[in-house]
Amino acid sequence: MENHWYEAGLEHVWLPYAQMKTMRPPLPVVRTQGCRIVLADGRELIDGMASWWTACHGYNHPHIRAAVERQLAAMPHVMFGGLVHEPALTLARRLAALLPGDLDRVFFSESGSVAVEIAMKMAIQYWLNRGEEGRSKFIAFKGGYHGDTTGAMAVSDPDGGMHDVFHGVLPEHFVLALPTDRAGEAALSGFIQTHREQIAGIIVEPLVQGAGGMKFHAADVLHTLRTLADRHGLLLIFDEIFTGFGRAGSMFACGAAGVVPDIITLSKALTGGTLPLAATVARQHVFEAFWSDDPRHALMHGPTYMGNALACAAANASLDLFEREPRLAQVAAIAEQMARELAPCRGLPGVKDVRVQGAIGVVELERIDDLNALRARFVEQGVFIRPFGNVIYLTPSFTVSSDELSKLTRAISKVLGG
Ligand SMILES: Cc1ncc(COP(=O)(O)O)c(C=O)c1O
Repeated sequence: MENHWYEAGLEHVWLPYAQMKTMRPPLPVVRTQGCRIVLADGRELIDGMASWWTACHGYNHPHIRAAVERQLAAMPHVMFGGLVHEPALTLARRLAALLPGDLDRVFFSESGSVAVEIAMKMAIQYWLNRGEEGRSKFIAFKGGYHGDTTGAMAVSDPDGGMHDVFHGVLPEHFVLALPTDRAGEAALSGFIQTHREQIAGIIVEPLVQGAGGMKFHAADVLHTLRTLADRHGLLLIFDEIFTGFGRAGSMFACGAAGVVPDIITLSKALTGGTLPLAATVARQHVFEAFWSDDPRHALMHGPTYMGNALACAAANASLDLFEREPRLAQVAAIAEQMARELAPCRGLPGVKDVRVQGAIGVVELERIDDLNALRARFVEQGVFIRPFGNVIYLTPSFTVSSDELSKLTRAISKVLGG
């Protein structure tokens, strides 16, 4: 009777990325704490996902909670049209200071996909405002994922499995191979040369392609993209929704690679996993293309919950924690431990590759036949790990203890070892 809400509500909810008919029943959660998820039946799972990579400081961090509670008492939300407030302006200033180069203008929204839509609109209108018509296509990359809204889907790899039913319906962009060597660079350069007039920009997840398969590439690829974008006069967009805020090993992948994009998108760990918030940040020259006496040159976008004060307060508190606590050192320690403890998986049957970058540990399999069964086996081991496609991966909170992390890596070896 205690869980009456579960049976009564499950009939009415539609869950993400799920065939509702064949999926296993979702786990009822009643509490989170640190790196633990507490289920309604009292079981405690060690969390290997950090809730889709958001909860970088662990769940229920007291500093973020206190900041949100204070903000809640003062003002949970006020519209951002014609009104501004301290948490949003402080956050914009702090993000601009953290990001490299003149990535200085912050446009807030509430989800990663929307941040990508805004980046795409900015790039297209950038050219229109400068009098260049017809530049509405993007170059994106195989293995890439940028979100589930229509524009973001259209620049994600159509063969990744997430969006293939929408083939032929979405606007078509150029989804190409990442230029990982000289031949790739020459091919991409030639392609751009031919299609330049149609292209607004290049969009890429820098260093790590996340939901498209947890694939890594070298910083050189990003240098190549910057060079080609400059040579052919295209905007370069980095989608750091996954890699931002330490996940790939440094605060931002662009900083680690030494490449300044023209537009960057941020979300996920921005609020430390507390509240939905995203940001699309533009360089000065992008903003200047909208600075005009002509009202039609304005960026016509404005989500209702834009700059939500609670979310901005959480994000400011999350940035405090990056300043006060040794988060990046913790990420380095997690990387070292995952590399050591996942390495033996290389010898297990069906394992294709094991790789680690920052606080992202990946065991790629030849294939996974029954994802639901595999997921359930992790729960039996007392951990929450949610493989997709053909990858099992760990993206724990940066505050995960070494014991907890060992339990996560051991669960993978055990489940794969049979
Ligand atoms: C790189 C990247 N871009 C965009 C998104 C979409 O973000 P959201 O799910 O908040 O819309 C994701 C989500 O996984 C992502 O990893």
